[in-house]
Amino acid sequence: MRLAAPLRALATMSASISRRIADTDAPVIVGMQQMLKGKSDVMSMAQGIVHWPPPSEALQAARAALDEPQTSLYCADDGLPALRDALKQKLARDNGLVSSEVMVTAGANQAYTNVVLSLLDAGDAAVLYRPYYFNHLMALQMTGSAADVVLPPSTPDMQPDLAALQGEIEARAAAGRPPIKLVTLVNPGNPTGVMIPRPTLEAFSAVCEQNGIWLVLDNTYEHFAYEGEATHSCLEGEHIINVFSFSKAYGMMGWRVGYAAFPPSLGPQLFKTQDTIVICPTVISQKVAIGALETGRAWVDERIASLAEQKALVLDALHATLGADAVKGGSGAIYLFCRLPAGCEDDTAVVVRLPAAPAAARLPPHPSERRALPSPRGRGGSPTRTASALSRVRLAACLATCAYATQTFRSSGRARQPRGCERALGSSQRAASISRHTAASSELASVRSRHLAWRRGG
Ligand SMILES: Cc1ncc(COP(=O)(O)O)c(C=O)c1O
Repeated sequence: MRLAAPLRALATMSASISRRIADTDAPVIVGMQQMLKGKSDVMSMAQGIVHWPPPSEALQAARAALDEPQTSLYCADDGLPALRDALKQKLARDNGLVSSEVMVTAGANQAYTNVVLSLLDAGDAAVLYRPYYFNHLMALQMTGSAADVVLPPSTPDMQPDLAALQGEIEARAAAGRPPIKLVTLVNPGNPTGVMIPRPTLEAFSAVCEQNGIWLVLDNTYEHFAYEGEATHSCLEGEHIINVFSFSKAYGMMGWRVGYAAFPPSLGPQLFKTQDTIVICPTVISQKVAIGALETGRAWVDERIASLAEQKALVLDALHATLGADAVKGGSGAIYLFCRLPAGCEDDTAVVVRLPAAPAAARLPPHPSERRALPSPRGRGGSPTRTASALSRVRLAACLATCAYATQTFRSSGRARQPRGCERALGSSQRAASISRHTAASSELASVRSRHLAWRRGG
């Protein structure tokens, strides 16, 4: 069909995408999936997941739900009353949150997006500590706050640096710049693997409250605390929103259930985002979540305690290979944060090279380390800081799949790493690392094959 002249002109104009989405980082997880496409016997460790399935009672609840007509209907926007009641009991008992309202969401990520959409106008200033969880930055970018995201560094022991926040608040006030509106802390951290002690949280809360700043606590890994390390804490207040997830503790990644606990006055605003994005959380998934909560905390604690051994193996491998001072984290969550040796500063090159190694763990370079980061505004930037940030990479991630991480180190001794890395690691160190881990390898291989079988549905 021939178009009339004005329509032909229109047909050649390309529709443009939003600046907000164009300026949003591409998800590293998808990048890894594309990089590993068609490769067999390679497992991406880009996503932090656990190797256990949900409790059998929870899966049984899903089977039973198939025949219930209610499962196919919309439910209340903020979730099934039975789940919200159970969550309120859990929040009071386990987290000390007694006056928060609860909204069930499609995972902690949707809870965070709801919160950002409800609290920030485009361009409002928000703080994420480096190294940050990449989806938090993406949520801020998408909602238009990317222009004023402040990314202060963590302290040398990977705790959020309160002094950096205070400095930023003062510098803005002195320069007449818009104040910070929202601070996000991930506790325990992804990718730092560090538990934030209660006094630090309280100090942040006090500074935020005094300065009219919202404090969002992402407690996705709340259960992942280890013996002898700081325990997990939540705080409640008119300026605090807590975000939680069923994904990790209950092995419910694919069911997509999370929740936000927030001051009741925020409810009407959060309903607007909720109703527009999901209308209501998936009903069958909520029934699985109820079943999971009924199974009880002991079920979760048992599984997490079993990670201690794997964490010790990975730490041992990392210490032997990179040196103890190159490894941070491990007090919480399922991550360790490592500095690559001299000669391996180009973390992207390392990650691109890794899939060629047999049975190796692969991780994306951490986006917060890839970004050329200015210093917090008004406090002077330095290229050295950027270079040192780039020299770190999140190398060993998910303890639940530590077999892969450990095997990376074994294969790193077999001329599979970039040359600079091999020189940097040194042959004697590599040999020590290999022999130390040969003993553990059969046990790790069996963990690995169980994990692979489960992921493939076996
Ligand atoms: C800090 C943090 N928040 C949120 C999420 C996403 O959790 P969910 O699966 O509940 O959306 C993750 C997943 O890795 C995470 O690490």
